[in-house]
Amino acid sequence: MRQAGRYMPEYRAVRERLGFLALCKSPDAAAEVTVTAALRLGVDAAIVFADILLVLEPMGVGLEFTRGDGPVIRRPVRSGADVDRLAEVDPAALGYVAEAVARARAALPARVPLIGFAGAPFTLASYLVEGGGSRTYARTKALMTDPGAWRALMERLVRVVAAYLNAQIAAGADVVQLFDSWVGCLSPDDYRTHVLPHVRAVVGSVRRGTPVIHFGTGTAGLLESMRAAGGDVIGLDWRVDLDAAWNRIGHDVAVQGNLDPVALLAPVAEIRRRAAAILGQAAGRPGHIFNLGHGVLPQTPVDHVHALVDAVHELSAR
Ligand code: CP3
Repeated sequence: MRQAGRYMPEYRAVRERLGFLALCKSPDAAAEVTVTAALRLGVDAAIVFADILLVLEPMGVGLEFTRGDGPVIRRPVRSGADVDRLAEVDPAALGYVAEAVARARAALPARVPLIGFAGAPFTLASYLVEGGGSRTYARTKALMTDPGAWRALMERLVRVVAAYLNAQIAAGADVVQLFDSWVGCLSPDDYRTHVLPHVRAVVGSVRRGTPVIHFGTGTAGLLESMRAAGGDVIGLDWRVDLDAAWNRIGHDVAVQGNLDPVALLAPVAEIRRRAAAILGQAAGRPGHIFNLGHGVLPQTPVDHVHALVDAVHELSAR
């Protein structure tokens, strides 16, 4: 996660020439940063360079990535009437992402799978409603108390996300990841009522035969429900023990995780110790994808990411 990002000089060099949105919209540049990051780090899979918020732009809400403040939605959605005003997305409007997938797939060695991705309906809705990031998600939760408006918003997002993921698969993505990054702010009951059916609809619409990774953070109270919503792999963050979480959701589903990204700021010996602890919890069972529990932080030394990849390869070799 955030394989290509500000911590990497090769990324910053490309990013200096192009704004963030322009970079996402240039299939050549997006494919280049995707492939460079994966090969430089020696990871076992690449993730296409894009952003979960790109699908919101053709809805006509005024998406901007401002330096320092993160993403902003200029015309947020706060009511049923606002939901009705959202433009229906023509999947061709996001054709540049499919094109980046195709170019990255063509440039990667065959042994390296390419991950496509999208935001899950709740996390996308949280940006649409709040107008950006949030600490409390108070406005998003307020819209949930208007069930008709909430359902209309989620159903729109389900359609867009399903079509968008299938377009990435058609273009060559081998796996897709659904990011429900902020779903951990919800009570289990709100998750089951207002989110689970919509995630299930997205997962059920993904072309058969393509594995789906279902990821969130702060989800210790939601894991069984996330598993019920669907996905071949459940993403775990570092706030849970991997072995206990895997026992809870069952060993018939795969797990991904779960190193704290802050651990990458520690000395290499400590990084190796923590990687070994996670692999110890996975205990050699099939179906564990080693990963961070969330994205690489901008202040992370690239050497430390590389050292982690080496440690995981060494410690899990059989
Ligand atoms: O992992 C990769 O290499 C693929 C690229 C990727 C980006 N965003 C690029 C990006 C992926 C998988 C994402 C997903 C994403 N985007 C999520 C879900 C994952 C997560 O982190 O929870 C979310 C919530 C977003 C929304 C978003 N985009 C935010 C909050 C920000 C600002 C972050 C910040 O630290 O400023 C972005 C911008 C963004 N997306 C950057 C990158 C590399 C930094 C932009 C820059 O170069 O200035």
